[in-house]
Amino acid sequence: MTSFALPATFSDAPQFLARLQEIHPEFACVTKLQSSDGPMAQAFSWKERTFANRWAIHPMEGWDGTVDGLPTEDTLRRWGNFGRSGAALIWGGEAFAVTPEGRANPHQLHQGSHAEVLQGLQELMAALRAGQGEAGLQPKQSYVGLQLTHSGRWARPSATQLSPRTMMRHDFLDDKVGIQDDSALLTDAELADLPQAYADAACLAEQAGFDFVDIKCCHGYLLHESLAAHDRPGPYGGPFENRTRLFREIVHAVRQACPALDLGVRLSATDTLDGGFAEASEFLSLLESLEISWVNLTQGSPYYCSHLQRPAAFPPSDGIPPTEDPLHAVWHHLQVTRALKKKHPKLIFLGTGYTYLQDYLAHVAEYEVGEGFVDFVGIGRMVLSYPEMPQDHLAGRPFVRKKICRTFSDCTTGPRNGMRSGCYPLDPEYRSREEAKKVRELRPKRKG
Ligand SMILES: Cc1cc2nc3c(=O)[nH]c(=O)nc-3n(C[C@H](O)[C@H](O)[C@H](O)COP(=O)(O)O)c2cc1C
Ligand code: SF4
Repeated sequence: MTSFALPATFSDAPQFLARLQEIHPEFACVTKLQSSDGPMAQAFSWKERTFANRWAIHPMEGWDGTVDGLPTEDTLRRWGNFGRSGAALIWGGEAFAVTPEGRANPHQLHQGSHAEVLQGLQELMAALRAGQGEAGLQPKQSYVGLQLTHSGRWARPSATQLSPRTMMRHDFLDDKVGIQDDSALLTDAELADLPQAYADAACLAEQAGFDFVDIKCCHGYLLHESLAAHDRPGPYGGPFENRTRLFREIVHAVRQACPALDLGVRLSATDTLDGGFAEASEFLSLLESLEISWVNLTQGSPYYCSHLQRPAAFPPSDGIPPTEDPLHAVWHHLQVTRALKKKHPKLIFLGTGYTYLQDYLAHVAEYEVGEGFVDFVGIGRMVLSYPEMPQDHLAGRPFVRKKICRTFSDCTTGPRNGMRSGCYPLDPEYRSREEAKKVRELRPKRKG
């Protein structure tokens, strides 16, 4: 078992800074938080809007919608908590599947053939706005998007089996989802139908009051895989022009259908810790040429490199134990984001991978935004365990240590084993549930 010091064990920020600099001399944090006078409290102006702060919430689904794709009490509570965070940017809320067969699980929110979808989206917005109200945030000080997805290879619309739909054959990934022949490949005709489904979902989001939609290109799902379809013959594979065709067709269809709606893109910039990300820059240039300004940078996939996608001290039931200090993965997120922001200064960047920093998350956030390395700092798991963290930070209140996410990964282990997601160890609402015990038993045993 690799040993490393958990962030909570550092006695103060200077000691933590020393550890960061052992990892890389440019990996740094502030040693004293500036809170309301600091970079995270700086307003951000874009078009006619002024955002109240630089905190953002990443999309996070809970595997807790109805089978018709509508929100439940748990879904609404989570969206309320996203609002209560006081973060000015709500990036996507959670992945919303544009077709029922594009769901990653039977309980994913999705656009079905039923009339209530719009009402479901309106309920999500109402829950979010109520939370923002509690945090003292006006709608016009914030920016709220819905993440649109098709799960592609990771589609699982029924509880019993994966129903992968892929862009290409791939030895390793085909093995992971039990593909043995070409039958899971999406045809060109099937792909050509998808932009309309995205456009329909985008219009529903606009009607429900969302400011933008995120055309999700990350984490191994369909549009991320399409960018990697080097060996696919025909119009959707091979050269960059073809691999970005589906994405461009979707952007075009959404713009035609709802021209006033803004667009953003969540992109996995690389899949490996030592991987290059040259093509990510080419893709960002494409976004600039399409006049898409908002980018949420992430890395990897929860299915084949969760240690990179969600740096954690304790792996989920299908993950691998850390082979090095997870701070290395955090640094990789920061480094890639810094490099791409430097190359594309006109794009507005939201960074990922901060939750593992735990007690020192805000120290690193202030440093990164203060240096202009990123525009917004996004939090994922931390908002499940400690929704008020951004507010506490901006108000200069000390953090509530027992609410800080310790990256136990139970929120991933739950859904991997057919249960809802939630912060079972730290959120009192989930701690008392029957599933909490089951999830604890499923935690991988620590060896050594
Ligand atoms: C329970 C759970 C659900 C998630 N759902 C989504 C999702 O719907 N869309 C998405 O782009 N990322 C999703 N993610 C990834 C997060 O947005 C985020 O990238 C990841 O947790 C790393 O950020 P963090 O270190 O702040 O947690 C999910 C993560 C978790 C833990
Ligand atoms: S279950 Fe809670 S503590 Fe564990 S990783 Fe998820 S949010 Fe963090």
